[in-house]
Amino acid sequence: MAKLQENELQELKSRFFDICSSVNRPGMDELLKWLEKTDFFVAPASTKFHGNYKGGLLEHSLHVYDKAAELCAKYPDIEISSDSIVIAALFHDLTKANYYVQDFKNVKVYKDGGTRHDEHGAFDWETQPYYKVDDRLPLGHGEKSVIILQSFIKLSRDEIYAIRWHMGGFDSAVKGGDYAMSKAYEICPFAVILHMADIESSYLLETIEK
Ligand SMILES: [Fe+2]
Ligand SMILES: [Fe+2]
Repeated sequence: MAKLQENELQELKSRFFDICSSVNRPGMDELLKWLEKTDFFVAPASTKFHGNYKGGLLEHSLHVYDKAAELCAKYPDIEISSDSIVIAALFHDLTKANYYVQDFKNVKVYKDGGTRHDEHGAFDWETQPYYKVDDRLPLGHGEKSVIILQSFIKLSRDEIYAIRWHMGGFDSAVKGGDYAMSKAYEICPFAVILHMADIESSYLLETIEK
């Protein structure tokens, strides 16, 4: 059974649009119209980690919004507008729209409580669907979200920092030895908040469908 039922997906989607309707930024309508044409509202959030099921990306984006709003309330000295919280949180993973494709694989399903460790365990082959990556716009993770967003709406400097560096230490550039993220986090504490919200949502709120 799917992790998220159709009615739950619809509720999440209407909440997403409700939150977006509070944002006053030229180009938002065009952005949302484009988004409707992508797989954003049904895509998973990953292939085998958190939210690896239909609607996982939408669910994750809303979790990140809730967590980012909570953290901003906890640190009131960080000056950031409510529009920026919405834009950075809901669209930080825009990079994952039109990014996953579904394929099928044959898996062994063990019978009589057996496992793959049983040398002589009986099993049947079963064809199961799974998601895999097909990056049709390979520009880098956070970078791609910023680039796509900028083609519809003008982002503030804080929004750019936050979205670009939302992966924190998991970002490929950081792993390659780039120090720009630390500098960005010093200049823009909201970028730290978005990263924390992303981590908390992914690892503490969301599940993995086996
Ligand atoms: Fe991400
Ligand atoms: Fe994320």
